Amino acid sequence: MTKIAFKINEKVHEVSVEGSPAFAFGKAETLSSAITDITYHQAWYPKGFEVFDLLSVKEFEHLKQGITHSIKNLIEKELQISLPNFDLTKYHHIIKTDTDHFKIVSKTRDLFSGDFTFSVQSLIPSLEKFLGFQLIDINPKDETKMHIIVRINRPHSNDYNPPHKDIYEGVDGENYIPLFINFWIPICGVTENSALPISPASHLIPENQILRTFDGAVVAGNKYRVRMIKEWAGNNVLERAKVADGQVLVFSSHLIHGLAINDEEDLTRVALEFRLFKK
Ligand SMILES: [Fe+2]
Repeated sequence: MTKIAFKINEKVHEVSVEGSPAFAFGKAETLSSAITDITYHQAWYPKGFEVFDLLSVKEFEHLKQGITHSIKNLIEKELQISLPNFDLTKYHHIIKTDTDHFKIVSKTRDLFSGDFTFSVQSLIPSLEKFLGFQLIDINPKDETKMHIIVRINRPHSNDYNPPHKDIYEGVDGENYIPLFINFWIPICGVTENSALPISPASHLIPENQILRTFDGAVVAGNKYRVRMIKEWAGNNVLERAKVADGQVLVFSSHLIHGLAINDEEDLTRVALEFRLFKK
């Protein structure tokens, strides 16, 4: 079996890539630039990410309660069960199979259009203040509205993407780099054993030092749309982002991130993930 090793906070993780498309190096070019990366003029551009205080304790609790309520309703409806004392961090006690989990996550993209009161629009002014430019949740290329993804990751599960850059699908498909920026907001279960792994400054590495797939990936038998990165500048090391409740992790769409293995024993990790474009 073909296995690849990565290090997250010094811990080695091996994943099977049996059935994955071939890995190859890219061209001698750096894709992140003043034209292709809207984080280029940020003070934190050299590292490719920053963490900001976004929500007060009260605002965070409101957000968490709303998401807990929406997921509880979704489980009750999909699995036809009643959950009077639902605890989001114990999601994995109720959703024990991949089949049930996929039933739930296939619906979490729609959470925000339905009964839920929270709107990403309400966060945009704060995010604009951090960045110093205006943001929009509409893709200017095809006018589609950006989804907020509620990423639910059970302990020791495969509920994650392989290490990747968000821009690659556009680059490989249409030779086009979309001008968006990534946001990641913890909801519950985000700890030093479960937070999103990132590789600081990896957006500055030229493509001929990045070994990756060019058409999706297969990890542990699961198919992914993102291109999987195996090695960058001879390196395979990721570090867990240090982002707490009420904060937001902001990062360049050129930054290598992923392999968000939840190494907690008994905590489901939930985070909001979304992209916004420069207006
Ligand atoms: Fe991503």
